[in-house]
Amino acid sequence: MKSFVFSTTKSIVSEIGATSRIAELCHLLNITRPLIVTDQGIIDNGLLAPILSAFNDAQMQFWYFDKVVADPPESVVVAAVDYAKQSRVDGVIGLGGGSSLDTAKLVALLANSDESITEIYGVDNINGKRLPLILVPTTAGTGSEVTPISIVTTGETTKAGIVSAQLLPDIALLDASLTVSLPSHITAATGIDAMVHAIEAFTSAVKKNVLSDMLAKNALELLSKNIVEATFNGQNVEARQAMLLGSCLAGQAFANAPVGAVHALAYPLGGQFHIPHGLSNALVLPHVMRFNKSHCADLYAELATHIMHGDDALNNLANSAADNGAADNDRADTNNKHTTDRLIHFLHELIAKLQLPDSLAALGIEEKHIDSLANDALQQTRLLTNNPKVVSLDDAKQIYRNALTGKRNG
Ligand SMILES: NC(=O)c1ccc[n+]([C@@H]2O[C@H](COP(=O)([O-])OP(=O)(O)OC[C@H]3O[C@@H](n4cnc5c(N)ncnc54)[C@H](O)[C@@H]3O)[C@@H](O)[C@H]2O)c1
Ligand SMILES: [Fe+2]
Repeated sequence: MKSFVFSTTKSIVSEIGATSRIAELCHLLNITRPLIVTDQGIIDNGLLAPILSAFNDAQMQFWYFDKVVADPPESVVVAAVDYAKQSRVDGVIGLGGGSSLDTAKLVALLANSDESITEIYGVDNINGKRLPLILVPTTAGTGSEVTPISIVTTGETTKAGIVSAQLLPDIALLDASLTVSLPSHITAATGIDAMVHAIEAFTSAVKKNVLSDMLAKNALELLSKNIVEATFNGQNVEARQAMLLGSCLAGQAFANAPVGAVHALAYPLGGQFHIPHGLSNALVLPHVMRFNKSHCADLYAELATHIMHGDDALNNLANSAADNGAADNDRADTNNKHTTDRLIHFLHELIAKLQLPDSLAALGIEEKHIDSLANDALQQTRLLTNNPKVVSLDDAKQIYRNALTGKRNG
């Protein structure tokens, strides 16, 4: 049996309205002087209020830092750490999307040590021990509340990751009452990001494992059943909670079976054109899957049954594959490729239904940008090694070229 290691957040609270119990959770972790790390958008949408009233009810003092910005630069992390040290806080609560959560993780660590952020980039370069940490996501996408990763913007177009088990929080709190205010286009894009985490974890070449597989399938069930409803009927708190849980399961899957070429090709779109992470993924997803099909159609076909609910043609294909049995490998292979084609078509349709742009051209990207995008994508070696099929520079260019026009076949 294949060996593997699986690590995740110690405690996950999935409960609509659980934010009102934040003081109780702090008490469990012996936090008496909490610092809330968040951004202005969260405050403007009234999402800090339930936490503040819970602390007031418990007569607990608290501090908050609200200067996180999307794709947080190093300087913001440093400012938050300084504030945490001055305030002598003894625990951190991250409240927001991936940007606030990633910052909160680093604050919990660096406020409790003499290490500087510049020393800890990369994998397992952390020596210190972090303060107690609770993460409360307000987007259903990154899964940051269960990943040992923080992503920091380090230059004009560059980001770097810090990876350590120290960055997993003590508690992840999933409360959909905090996500109902999320605008539909962010709900859609972050939801697709979560789906990509699950799809890429399931096809991960290096660390694919049975626990990540189970989580990825369950995540895709929840996400694909609820993404349209959560996007267009954002007040449906049950659909919102399903998205939060799906994103959390997908996060656990990819934290242990890392993502591949979809993310590798998505990152340069964020770096060079400031396209939000989820949307970047949506723009390249079908095209990377079409490229990968020759190497993992069996895995895509397995996932199709968890994504395309109520698709009769898909069920017929699955039944005929089962009838033919393993002996008929060629026929099974052909069926898997057909099923993968249907899945890719389904994802194109889903992206259109969510009213997300479906071509790079729609965002002003042109043929002349492809070389530079492909060069940057090839730098993502940490991700590309997880892809089921080797991606050459020419392959990356061709995938971007297909994404440029939103090409649907070939
Ligand atoms: N740690 C990880 O494992 C991991 C994985 C993927 C991406 N990331 C990082 O996460 C960041 C992206 O995170 P994100 O996509 O969650 O977005 P985000 O945190 O950057 O937030 C985007 C915007 O949405 C607003 N917002 C968030 N929740 C809201 C709500 N409920 N209602 C209204 N507005 C709300 C925020 O104020 C912000 O303006 C990037 O920096 C990316 O690199 C981290
Ligand atoms: Fe992602």
